[in-house]
Amino acid sequence: MNSNTTPDALAGSAPHCLRARALAALVVSEWSQKLEAVRAIDDGAVLDCQREFVAPAGLPGCPARPELVPPAQVKHRSMATLEGRAALLHALAHIEFNAINLALDILWRFAGMPDAFYRDWLRVAQEEAYHFDLLRQRLQTLGYAYGDFPAHNGLWDMAQRTQDDLLARLALVPRTLEARGLDASPMIRNKLAGAGDADSAAIVDIILRDEIGHVAIGNHWFKQQCGLAGKEPVACYAELAQRYDAPKLRGPFNLEARRAAGFNEVELAALQANTPPSMSSRKEFSA
Ligand SMILES: [Fe+2]
Ligand SMILES: [Fe+2]
Repeated sequence: MNSNTTPDALAGSAPHCLRARALAALVVSEWSQKLEAVRAIDDGAVLDCQREFVAPAGLPGCPARPELVPPAQVKHRSMATLEGRAALLHALAHIEFNAINLALDILWRFAGMPDAFYRDWLRVAQEEAYHFDLLRQRLQTLGYAYGDFPAHNGLWDMAQRTQDDLLARLALVPRTLEARGLDASPMIRNKLAGAGDADSAAIVDIILRDEIGHVAIGNHWFKQQCGLAGKEPVACYAELAQRYDAPKLRGPFNLEARRAAGFNEVELAALQANTPPSMSSRKEFSA
């Protein structure tokens, strides 16, 4: 971080503005400092909803480890070994670390939204920080640390692709990537529980509970933006998914969680109609 990208420099003339603080936290590289910066943002902080920020170089701040590799190089290990379970928990922790950055990014990048939009995404950022820390602590209990396994950067790639388009960001991050996490949770939970790791399974339960809320926030603001633009949400989503090359979602879907997160029956039918029939497993997931 150079002197122009320190948290205080980014906060500039409005050091207590919630959006400026979010950008300052996004720049922070070291995980414990990032958690501290996210937790320190007050939900009741003043908000300048109209401010346009200049993107600092090198977003997002990420620690030197884990090493980032192409998705195909991330090994999938057996749940029968401690190392295998630790690798899975590490992958989940990395997803949560990215999720912190994704929530912080939507806060500073998109001006002109109502106050409630920014306070919603602050809540998401703080819950992602909580999820990351739960997983990090669990890894530590098992004798591992965040950074011990390679990871991939697929989630942030979607943030970059949608950096100029709020509707696309809402469609493809919370309503696609985070919603995919809802679908993946039962399988991951059962793998961990089946391996006798009830403590790790309990963390996945907490994450699923909170992620339903994140997807609900995404659904709320996506539909609000569709309404303002006079777009029909199902057709709009399909168009954005194609234009931005969204990952193809594969069943089985967690329909109960998706309903709780605000997807309606028309959306769920469209989701299932677009699914390749033989796809019943997945190697990727997101939270
Ligand atoms: Fe999360
Ligand atoms: Fe989330």
